[in-house]
Amino acid sequence: MTATASGRPGSARLTPRHDPGQPTTAVPDLAALQQRAAERAAERAGGRDRLRGHIVCDGLVRIFKTEGVEVVALQGLDLVIDRGELVAIVGASGSGKSTLLNVLSGLDTPTAGIARVADYDLLALSNRRRLAYRREMVGFIWQQTGRNLLPYLTAVENVELPMKLAGRRGGRRERARRLLDLVGVGHCADRRPGRMSGGEQQRCAVAVAVANDPEILFADEPTGELDEATGAEVFAALRTINAELGVTIVVVTHDHAVADQVRRTVAIRDGRTASEVRRTARTTADGGTELVSEEYAVLDRTGRMQLPAPFVEALSLRDRVRLTLEPDRVEVRPGDRAHAEESE
Ligand SMILES: Nc1ncnc2c1ncn2[C@@H]1O[C@H](COP(=O)(O)OP(=O)(O)OP(=O)(O)O)[C@@H](O)[C@H]1O
Ligand SMILES: [Mg+2]
Repeated sequence: MTATASGRPGSARLTPRHDPGQPTTAVPDLAALQQRAAERAAERAGGRDRLRGHIVCDGLVRIFKTEGVEVVALQGLDLVIDRGELVAIVGASGSGKSTLLNVLSGLDTPTAGIARVADYDLLALSNRRRLAYRREMVGFIWQQTGRNLLPYLTAVENVELPMKLAGRRGGRRERARRLLDLVGVGHCADRRPGRMSGGEQQRCAVAVAVANDPEILFADEPTGELDEATGAEVFAALRTINAELGVTIVVVTHDHAVADQVRRTVAIRDGRTASEVRRTARTTADGGTELVSEEYAVLDRTGRMQLPAPFVEALSLRDRVRLTLEPDRVEVRPGDRAHAEESE
């Protein structure tokens, strides 16, 4: 058993047999950025002891009922994200990614389970506290560039607006310009969105989302409408915000190249967390740093886990499987006797 990224004991590491081998990439700056993000987050939280579990989901359920039909979008999802982490969420269309983000950002209320962010219990928020949560704790970036910015305001005015609405006095323009510089679009400060590229608009949206210094930033496919190179720039802006401001960031993405740029990627399947890829920094023989990727299956409190679809297909696993406990592992074999004997 290996500790999960969430710090919870009991995640099973996938055997790499059906994996072409996780590439070992030398990305020294990412490790440094992550370190800085953790330090900034620790400063914000007032000490390392408060770092655990900034976001906690346990057995989270969201059922939608439309015209008598029930859709279980989240089926007992477990997820723990620490302060200062930058986590990518990936998964097929309809797997529940947006539902999860909407719940965590306070836009939607879950049906059952636990969803806690900092001191906020998201299942038991009064309207007043929900409003406070959304105003003070979280920033949100939508996929559609047009949804993040007001078209008749310049970039700097767009960033100032949330500060104005929150009643912040003094230093607004200066902070807005500083944030635009931080995400690399200082040159667009006095332009309206119509005169900015899609990537510039999304980077500006990052500045807007953190204008009021939220603890957490959620982004639902922020690079979905962009090409790969432009998407990478937006992701770089997110990494900078994470490292410099210590903001916890949860970003949903279809873009696997982007998922490669974070330390932790959580895959959701059918409304549950199915697996995680973690990249850990190791020191190489010549004293440099390299990131090593490892994939883990997520085991829940009751011992359930999902086998990756390629594993299931490779051995034609169906209905029942045989489990054998070995001193250092659990083996899973096809349950069908004839098949099992054949392969022995
Ligand atoms: N408001 C709603 N009413 C009814 N069903 C919904 C609603 N929102 C989502 N669903 C259903 O819940 C499931 C999960 O949807 P969700 O939007 O979270 O998926 P997703 O992973 O974000 O997909 P995509 O990658 O396409 O954005 C889907 O089956 C979807 O049809
Ligand atoms: Mg979605």
